[in-house]
Amino acid sequence: MKKEIVVSGIRSTGYLHLGNYFGAIQNYVKMQDAHECYFFVADYHSLTTHPDPKDLKKNVYRVVAENVASGLDPEKVALYAQSDLPEIPELYLMLNMLAYMGELEKVPTFKDKVRLQPDNVNAGLLTYPVLMAADILIHRAVKVPVGKDQEQHLEMARNFANRFNGRYGTDFFPEPQVYRFNNDTVKIMSLDGNGKMSKSENVNATIYLSDDDDTIRKKIMKAKTDQGPTVPNAEMPDYISNLFLLLQLTASPDITAHYTSAYNNCNIRYGDMKKQLAEDMAAFVKPIREHAAALQQDEQTIKRILKDGAEKARISSRATIEEARKLIGINYYQ
Ligand code: TYM
Repeated sequence: MKKEIVVSGIRSTGYLHLGNYFGAIQNYVKMQDAHECYFFVADYHSLTTHPDPKDLKKNVYRVVAENVASGLDPEKVALYAQSDLPEIPELYLMLNMLAYMGELEKVPTFKDKVRLQPDNVNAGLLTYPVLMAADILIHRAVKVPVGKDQEQHLEMARNFANRFNGRYGTDFFPEPQVYRFNNDTVKIMSLDGNGKMSKSENVNATIYLSDDDDTIRKKIMKAKTDQGPTVPNAEMPDYISNLFLLLQLTASPDITAHYTSAYNNCNIRYGDMKKQLAEDMAAFVKPIREHAAALQQDEQTIKRILKDGAEKARISSRATIEEARKLIGINYYQ
């Protein structure tokens, strides 16, 4: 039986953090055996913020190394750089003809960027969801493992797929769906309680896969808490449930059960809970950090992974673009 096709990408804009790990990479690893997987470094997407050319290669290599160190096996999946597949910008161009200003201007991530970087509202930012749709549709993927923050982009990818199918009278592109384990997409919040953990905002409230043990301890001990609940079984504020989520993701179930019961009985000591979480988190990140650091020293291996990945991925991207050209009518020599 043909395996289901999976695509997902990570921008090469900075150090990867727990949000990237639990929201995305961990799921990639879980999917790599039973699916046909295409995972890539979204280096074109990172150009919207004009990174220094000197940094790009290092950033791309780091994303590859951190994915592999997290358990992704480049023998089982195609792991490649977006810019190594020329079919992606070609499909992006085709889809741009079916994407409308009005809908692109309404996308919340676009509105955020306009607010955050008013001096650089470029067309690449506006059409960011179109490029993302091209990344996914180029392999005709059906499942896309991403964190909660990308759900709206996936909805747009489905719209563009349907619009293409409608216009060219086919069912060529399947509708890509967000892939959820346990029916829930993950959102890891920043440790200061302000929004999601992200690559560029508040470094001290973000735990990176490259952080050493002491840095992790310090960041967790500073995480936002409060006086604790005053009535039994109170609803948790989001910054507290975020700490519980991290505990659940890294500590043994009896530890999480212990602190949950302490919370419900109003006798939780957040200092103790954070100490425990800091130790479990440090132990969790250490092997990933060490493996990723070693891999980044080994440029030959990274280059081989990227080349092999692009070669595998281009088999499917070429087939899609050839067919898409024919459907559109770009078919002059047959
Ligand atoms: P990026 O690079 O911001 O993030 C990569 C992946 O990590 C997830 N993620 C999170 N999950 C939970 N909690 C968080 N705090 C958190 N922060 C990040 C993201 O949901 C994502 O899955 N536009 C995408 C990259 C992309 C892409 C694609 C993804 C480009 N083309 C095609 C899927 C398919 C982005 O900027 O992700």
